[in-house]
Amino acid sequence: MARLTGRNALVTGGARGLGAAQCLTLAREGARVAVADVDVGAAEELANRINADDGHAVAVALDVTQEAQWERALDEAEGELGALDILVNNAGIAALGNAEDTTLEDWRRVMAVNLDGVFLGTRAGIRRMKTRGGSIVNISSVKGIVADTFTAAYDAAKAGVRNFTKSAALHCASSGYGIRVNSVHPSYIMTDMVKDAASTVPDPDGFLAMVLAKHPMGRLCEPEDVANAVLFLASDESRYINGSEIVVDGGYTAQ
Ligand SMILES: NC(=O)c1ccc[n+]([C@@H]2O[C@H](COP(=O)([O-])OP(=O)(O)OC[C@H]3O[C@@H](n4cnc5c(N)ncnc54)[C@H](O)[C@@H]3O)[C@@H](O)[C@H]2O)c1
Repeated sequence: MARLTGRNALVTGGARGLGAAQCLTLAREGARVAVADVDVGAAEELANRINADDGHAVAVALDVTQEAQWERALDEAEGELGALDILVNNAGIAALGNAEDTTLEDWRRVMAVNLDGVFLGTRAGIRRMKTRGGSIVNISSVKGIVADTFTAAYDAAKAGVRNFTKSAALHCASSGYGIRVNSVHPSYIMTDMVKDAASTVPDPDGFLAMVLAKHPMGRLCEPEDVANAVLFLASDESRYINGSEIVVDGGYTAQ
């Protein structure tokens, strides 16, 4: 029996990168999956791919920063799939800048997607799942634990996700909701987010070499490494893991 048979999941930013790998992994393990993304065309492509492969998926349009869109997106997903059991708040963006040169515009853009979006999603997920229980997984980063000079806004948002996750977990536990809330902290993965960020610096190859050098295992993280941690947190195998953080970084934060 697959590990998520009969479960319904929604993954934000599910159309590409880490989110797409999570959708594919959850579907492979038997979950019905709502691929939620601002890029609804790409979300539809992935949902079609999952359905063509004997899975069950729907695409849902969602900008995680828009409070009003959350209710509609969850209504749509639950209308197609049934009541939600698993919510992965994965959508995120990057901006390069240090504590001195980051613009307020960049700061607010990063906070809106990476922190407001996780707050709105977690809150909406709790309200939906509180009578049946479930699992909420928030994608933070190693940069929610350790910082770099060049990702000031991103580091602040991801640290916010880390402790907000714990607050939400404590609230759900003390309320007797049966909802677990945990965070996942990947190191660098070569997705569009990282490629796009690298393309904005004067020496992209030097930037990527510097990033690789931070990884003790000599390779970057892969989308599947993160998806497997999400799968574990989504499944009952992690039933006593709550308010916790799973680091998927090949030793990056052990140094
Ligand atoms: N790639 C890495 O190195 C890395 C490392 C640690 C953590 N993360 C985190 O993993 C998550 C996914 O990152 P990725 O590398 O796959 O990025 P990506 O850019 O490859 O994909 C992000 C997806 O999110 C969607 N998205 C962006 N803004 C959105 C919004 N407002 N509402 C809904 N969807 C939105 C995009 O359309 C895209 O499909 C992010 O939270 C990121 O911070 C990434």
